[in-house]
Amino acid sequence: MEIYEFGQRMIREAGDFIKLRMKEDFKVDAKLNPHDLVTDVDKETETYIYERILERYPDHRIIGEEGHGTDIEDMSGVLWIVDPIDGTLNFVHQLQNFAVSIGVYVDGEPYCGLILDVMEGVLYHARVGSGAFKDDIRLDEMRDTTLDRSLIGMNANWVIKDQIGPAFKKIVEQTRSTRSYGSAALEMAYVATGILSASVFFRLHPWDYSAGMIIIDEAGGRTTNLLGEEIDILKKDSILTGNKAIHKELTDYFTSDAAFIAGHRRVHGEKR
Ligand code: IPD
Ligand code: CA
Ligand code: CA
Ligand code: CA
Repeated sequence: MEIYEFGQRMIREAGDFIKLRMKEDFKVDAKLNPHDLVTDVDKETETYIYERILERYPDHRIIGEEGHGTDIEDMSGVLWIVDPIDGTLNFVHQLQNFAVSIGVYVDGEPYCGLILDVMEGVLYHARVGSGAFKDDIRLDEMRDTTLDRSLIGMNANWVIKDQIGPAFKKIVEQTRSTRSYGSAALEMAYVATGILSASVFFRLHPWDYSAGMIIIDEAGGRTTNLLGEEIDILKKDSILTGNKAIHKELTDYFTSDAAFIAGHRRVHGEKR
């Protein structure tokens, strides 16, 4: 069995693990602030995935949101980038609309992306060069759209920020409408399927975006940061992902706004 097939089977087993585990009580803790939650299920699922990968491939490496691989600073070998539950707030409040997200890189090159909508039982997946899929159905090539005729994924939190807020507000005004799903990985899967034309995030971690980037690439879309710069897969960054036409329209838009660029540089620094 190849890594891709193993990954698909393993992520579904991780989904089954979550579904069983969530029937029992679990502890909810705050991390950096009262809105940033983590549960026992996040941590246990990450450990489950970590152990499954190492049992099968002892020489692979794993970075996870909940603490595995904090010492990893290079992309050599096979690297699994794991978000055990993407959309923890949805998990806690809704017990639905959350995903397991896994991106796999081989010597720094993207290899495959897997996003499981746990409660729907739907797996979005792609291996580089083989197309993007929703379960067994191959996704069509993403079609170009313009901002005024698009639905854009966006979290309202960014609109109320001082320096960068006005740029996001203008998008709200100019696009057909915005949507916020509370799971970056699922939102990226929706971009790949075309039910969103693009999605914008001001700050994401590798485990939030790595799988989605690979799937969107295979569906014919494009992902960079909001200033149109390539993503360094081991770093936090802003993310702009969408079909190629709207990606260009939005990067042109963000890079023509001096206040936004200054706010972006303040948070993310100069491009390495
Ligand atoms: C979060 C979700 C959310 C996004 C946050 C992420 P988590 O991931 O993807 O949609 O807006 O930036 O941190 O913490 O639920 O895995
Ligand atoms: Ca989190
Ligand atoms: Ca996440
Ligand atoms: Ca998470």
